[in-house]
Amino acid sequence: MSMQKIIEATNYIQSKINAKPKIGIVLGSGLGIYADHIENKIIIPFNEIPHFQRTTVEGHEGRLIFGDVKGVKVLALQGRIHAYEGHPMEDIVLPVRAMSMAGIEILFTTNASGGINEKWAPGDLAIIDDHINLSGRNPLVGPNMAELGPRFPDMTKAYDPELSKVLKEVGKRHHVDMKNGVYVSVLGPTYETPAEIRMLRVLGADMVGMSTVPEVIAANHLGIKVAGVACITNHAAGIKPEKLSHADVKVVAEKAMLGFATILTETIGELKHLGIV
Ligand code: HPA
Repeated sequence: MSMQKIIEATNYIQSKINAKPKIGIVLGSGLGIYADHIENKIIIPFNEIPHFQRTTVEGHEGRLIFGDVKGVKVLALQGRIHAYEGHPMEDIVLPVRAMSMAGIEILFTTNASGGINEKWAPGDLAIIDDHINLSGRNPLVGPNMAELGPRFPDMTKAYDPELSKVLKEVGKRHHVDMKNGVYVSVLGPTYETPAEIRMLRVLGADMVGMSTVPEVIAANHLGIKVAGVACITNHAAGIKPEKLSHADVKVVAEKAMLGFATILTETIGELKHLGIV
């Protein structure tokens, strides 16, 4: 991807907003309605932004939303694009790169995941402590864009422990027992087979999904601190007799939204209180 594309996208976003955003938020499947919790909104549809691709998945709106959460300027992606839609990695990470050029220093990323950990249940919220990238893709393949970051980014703390700690504490304060675990990303778009889920469990994964990892890699390359929260929308394949469906995934994510919205909003407030943003 040329820097030119990132610059053009960023310039357009900056022409529509009136202040520098501090926090970026990616709202995953069924979680887009968090946008209702953002105040003084400016809404920019993806199709207006140069080089932004449209989402093709139900439950993903495809809008960039600028506004305030607890007095902190945020830029939220309401919907994301995925590799299984056929998009190249560089298009998938363009929004995070543009948000970074626009000023964000922290990225909250959210998704709907299948629960591999048998102690977890649909509706649980899980803090992503680490990931395993089994998608076969990496957005940094190709000549390194040295303006953005190093050739070989460190991923030792891909998910910032300090941000995760604040999330956990805010959860406790609101009587939500957030889980902690490892997210494994797969390409999709099929859900996994029960045999694949047994394999992923052996590998050390607690939850599985088809997103998140590209933007987390791009954010680490850019030096942005990341926090990840997964909404566990279903038992992963084979744990229960039922089949998996996107409709069920969306319904559970939308139900979990209330607790999720409180935790995200209060975490942003706490980061401000602690002087982290
Ligand atoms: N597998 C992969 N992706 C998912 C799942 C799942 O079980 N649930 C929500 N996204």
